[in-house]
Amino acid sequence: MNRLIIESIEGRISLGITMFVAIMVLIGWVAINEPARMAAFERQHLGRSIERGAELFAANCSTCHGANGLGIAERAPGLNNPQLFGHDFLASVNVAIARLERTQSEINSRIADANREREALITETTQNPSPERLTEIAARIREIDATLNPDVEGSLPAQIAAIDEQLAPLYEQRAALLDKLMPAVDKGYLPQLEARMAQGGLALTEYLIRDADRLRQADWAGDLAGFLRTTLIHGRPGSQDAWGGTLMVSWSQLGGGPLRPDQVEDIVNYILNWDKGDNWTLEDLYAVNQFMKLKADAALVSAGGDRPQTIGSDVNAAYEAVMMLTGDAEVGKAIYNGDSRTLVGTRLGCSSCHLGGVQAPNTETTWETVNNVRLALPQFAGYDAERYLIESILMPNAYIVDGYASGVMPVTYPDQLSAQDIANIIAYIKSYSE
Ligand code: HEC
Ligand code: HEC
Repeated sequence: MNRLIIESIEGRISLGITMFVAIMVLIGWVAINEPARMAAFERQHLGRSIERGAELFAANCSTCHGANGLGIAERAPGLNNPQLFGHDFLASVNVAIARLERTQSEINSRIADANREREALITETTQNPSPERLTEIAARIREIDATLNPDVEGSLPAQIAAIDEQLAPLYEQRAALLDKLMPAVDKGYLPQLEARMAQGGLALTEYLIRDADRLRQADWAGDLAGFLRTTLIHGRPGSQDAWGGTLMVSWSQLGGGPLRPDQVEDIVNYILNWDKGDNWTLEDLYAVNQFMKLKADAALVSAGGDRPQTIGSDVNAAYEAVMMLTGDAEVGKAIYNGDSRTLVGTRLGCSSCHLGGVQAPNTETTWETVNNVRLALPQFAGYDAERYLIESILMPNAYIVDGYASGVMPVTYPDQLSAQDIANIIAYIKSYSE
């Protein structure tokens, strides 16, 4: 005990207190700095993810979407693009116009209501009402006439005229801004602009608000990261129709593609890193080489001349028609892989789901599985392989293969295939049995 450096009990106590306070201060200091340290760490982590994403993009995506993500004309849409990030160059003027136009349309429906009431009252006068009722009716009609008279201050038509005056300069402002957007419109921005201009009014305004924002245009309720991730997982089956055969396949291993989920995340981070928030300029919009193409209106496509009839969804009728034909496996293969169009004129991408058997049953074993496994099931008593295949193609949800999701295979084939196309596809599927 004599060796203790501090001998007095008071000295030891005060040393203890000093040490305690010092430790608390140290802990406090670390605690205060921890969030900043973590934030710096996360920034570094995100930075590295973006760098990896840039490399993956250059290797896998730039051949179609362009080196800087600006898209390639007629090949694939630009992603480094104010529209994808929801930047709307017309936002403020459109919002002001929409508010006024909506008010006007409410007033218009009140005018219609008033006219309807007036007509009903006039009809009533022809049905021998009592003298008191007749006076009542006359008074009410005078009231209605006042609300409908444009010369009366505050009447409904006068309100509409007042709003028209407020709208006029806003329309001018919008027309001038729209003019500036035209170089982008030529590359596919606001794809239905011309038709909507012809409609005018609230329909045009709401179209402009909606289609300036890619996620709204696509009816996507989630955020951009989710939109990108989902696109990369599932690809865009059917996109070949609008893009002259270029198909956006599924890239993620989750959807049968080549990229690991963490690589998909890196690419998503890389794309998100293009966001300029409020600082997107018209120059950025002009720099985009190609905007998203919307799928052609089915009605317009099917109006395309004397193509063979589509098969429709009646499986019995389809079976009879197909069994009368001879299929060509080579032609079927080209259709199946999206290399050539169906006789109806559409390009399909059966193989983008069915290759490899991840997202959908593997084509190479389908003929065998159908004959040995499916047809043994009680619900397919009386079926042959052709009937099973026809039903699978025309009504994919009639039976869902074990282990696969329902609602994935498109249900649009009855309108995209002729009997000969189906005969060709069946011949192709069958060719794996030899
Ligand atoms: C073979 C050409 C091709 C390649 C390679 C390609 N894409 Fe695409 N991509 C397309 C086409 C075509 C579309 C339009 C699809 C449609 O019409 O829905 C598209 C659409 C997209 C979209 C949706 C855009 C939108 O506005 O809806 C995203 C996101 C996308 N691709 C990301 C990528 C990424 C990331 C890669 C690389 C991993 C990639 N693409 C590789 C052709 C390609
Ligand atoms: C978007 C993905 C997708 C596309 C494109 C697609 N399919 Fe499918 N298909 C599936 C899935 C998933 C299943 C399994 C679930 C089910 O039974 O519906 C399936 C099932 C089938 C089956 C039943 C296979 C079996 O083992 O019983 C056939 C046959 C078939 N598809 C043919 C086609 C043909 C032909 C095309 C092109 C005209 C096509 N599919 C396009 C996803 C797709």
